[in-house]
Amino acid sequence: MHKVSVLGAAGQIGQPLSLLLKTSPLVSALSLYDIVHAPGVAIDLNHIDTPAPVNGFLAADDGLRKALTGADLVVIPAGIARKPGMTRDQLFETNASVIRDLVTEIAKVCPKAFVLIITNPVNSTLPIAVETLKKHNVYDPKKVFGVTTLDVVRASTFTAQALQISDPKSLRIPVVGGHSGATILPLLSQANPLVKLTDDQRDAITYRVQFGGDEIVKAKAGAGSATTCMAYAGFRFVQSILKAASGEKGIKEECYLYLPGIPGGDKIAKSLGVDYFAVPVEFGVSGAEKALSVSEISKHEETLLATAIAELKGNIQKGIAFCSS
Ligand code: 2OP
Repeated sequence: MHKVSVLGAAGQIGQPLSLLLKTSPLVSALSLYDIVHAPGVAIDLNHIDTPAPVNGFLAADDGLRKALTGADLVVIPAGIARKPGMTRDQLFETNASVIRDLVTEIAKVCPKAFVLIITNPVNSTLPIAVETLKKHNVYDPKKVFGVTTLDVVRASTFTAQALQISDPKSLRIPVVGGHSGATILPLLSQANPLVKLTDDQRDAITYRVQFGGDEIVKAKAGAGSATTCMAYAGFRFVQSILKAASGEKGIKEECYLYLPGIPGGDKIAKSLGVDYFAVPVEFGVSGAEKALSVSEISKHEETLLATAIAELKGNIQKGIAFCSS
């Protein structure tokens, strides 16, 4: 059984994510933190007839420390979301310091917890989280991840829609790279089961997975970006980590992580020329146990991979530079 803390719990991702966590038998207690409304959200969730008690904290009275005390897993959707026309990178100015400050407290209060970053731009905020934990000498590469599960969920969904497959979950498509535009690389050639796509279908699905977030930002017309599907995807990733931590075998999810710290990861990082990259990862009781390579991709995907790596390098450097300034 696991205590989970949600930082940014009263926000538009935080609330549906907290609801899903409250329904999970793997969560024994839930702690919510936000700069507004978190105690109210906690009371609301406490009327649900599942065992996990929910507590909500604001910044006053050392609320963040209280919210993190005893946490086994911390998931962070805190920060601001995109408005129409904005890229994820344009959130950096505000969200970089949000992540640095929250993770600094994690380093002090629950340094052994799993840390899952949803806050955009994930390509840069994960390196900030890692650098912050390193500064406090508590960084465990097997436990700190950027959440890219929504890209995987979108790849199955959009491919199933294009091919009129009724259950998107029956398709598993690895998505590697980062979590922003051209850095997101759905490996449609490695779909399981294999799918037959025309070049036009392949290009349309790839574009939709890469820029699917924009569809939502545009449709919400200033009211934010993906919230419910992101909560769904974040919850799926939390569940996978908690299942593996409870001893369940065969758990595999793609996530964005610091590769050199993971068995199998150093070789992948060297071959790609970047240390941070989303790949399929095998999870066990201690977290990420093995990073799986992205070899045998199609010629077309090779071209997209080069573009993804070039863009990602700048995003990673930006996060690292923020921490050394
Ligand atoms: C998305 O992919 C919000 O990053 C989120 O839509």
